[in-house]
Amino acid sequence: MPNPSLLILAGDGIGPEVMAEVKRIIDWFGAKRGMHFDVTEDLVGGAAYDRHGTPLHDDTMARAQAVDAVLLGAVGGPKYDNLDFSVKPERGLLRLRKEMDLFANLRPAQCFDALSDFSSLKKEVVAGLDIMIVRELTSGVYFGEPRGIFQEGNERVGINTQRYTESEIDRVARAAFELAMRRNRKLCSMEKANVMESGILWREVVTRVGKDYPEVELSHMYADAGAMQLTRWPKQFDVIVTDNLFGDLLSDLAAMLTGSLGMLPSASLGAPMANGRPKALYEPVHGSAPDIAGQGKANPIACILSFAMALRYSFDMGDEADRLEKAVERVLADGVRTADLLGAEGVAPVSTTGMGDAILAALDASL
Ligand code: IPM
Ligand code: MG
Repeated sequence: MPNPSLLILAGDGIGPEVMAEVKRIIDWFGAKRGMHFDVTEDLVGGAAYDRHGTPLHDDTMARAQAVDAVLLGAVGGPKYDNLDFSVKPERGLLRLRKEMDLFANLRPAQCFDALSDFSSLKKEVVAGLDIMIVRELTSGVYFGEPRGIFQEGNERVGINTQRYTESEIDRVARAAFELAMRRNRKLCSMEKANVMESGILWREVVTRVGKDYPEVELSHMYADAGAMQLTRWPKQFDVIVTDNLFGDLLSDLAAMLTGSLGMLPSASLGAPMANGRPKALYEPVHGSAPDIAGQGKANPIACILSFAMALRYSFDMGDEADRLEKAVERVLADGVRTADLLGAEGVAPVSTTGMGDAILAALDASL
């Protein structure tokens, strides 16, 4: 069997720095666990625009389609703010999601014990929190037509369209139910069926899919109430499934509950390929953080945990994913902190590479 293939798209801002640490972790798994990956690298976002005049070259798109998994760092930065909308760095990421048909975006919000003081919420509200948001990623208002800015009489009108087909709702609901089956068997679906027809259909289809998963306790919430409940008592949730835009908002909210936006990974999964693996792209939830880019300050943990998700969801190496996640927990418990994780205690921060070193040492210790 050929080695599993990985395409690394480090992107912009802190992307290349945090990805450098992931590459060391990948090498560790090769050297110490005999798990070899065929790694190739390419450009995305502003970096691709600078080279090719487009945030995602067609060749890169084709390579992404051909590999077992894509690892992405981050895209965007102030340098690109004034570019035409069609070539903004974000369009590269959105094209990857759309053309790979990565409809199920898994965004865990997990509160690491060592960091439960970091939340803006009370410790007891977040300690031990471990929820998973499943965001629909390839449809809804992000992609619906018609869209655009049009002239209407003597003024312009900006239009976007929220649109969901039954099959689009069905497949993301199934992904969420499957996940719930492997977790605590509780799924909450969020929409605004009180205001939006797409929400009415969403609720209907999710309920119908739920008939195939009688062991899962299904509930429904309006997304605004969901936002309120997430801040009031987030531990009431296990898996949440929601549409593209609500998922964008709610996953940022959930991530910040944990106090550690720099820590959270994500997986974007599509339909199974011929080899049975899902089409997949893994990326940290955080952005390109241009304010600290190039300074060796960035926290590489979210990107490293994204690789752990790749081990789990693309390569069926759940035990090795656990090993990597435990190494991260170990390092945090030992008090190793990048600058973003510094509390009042005045511990000296480690650099991006320093955090990588500590995680590699914890991996060694796990053998
Ligand atoms: C995210 C980001 C993206 C989104 C941007 C960068 C296009 O906010 O992944 O949550 O809106 O989906
Ligand atoms: Mg977002």
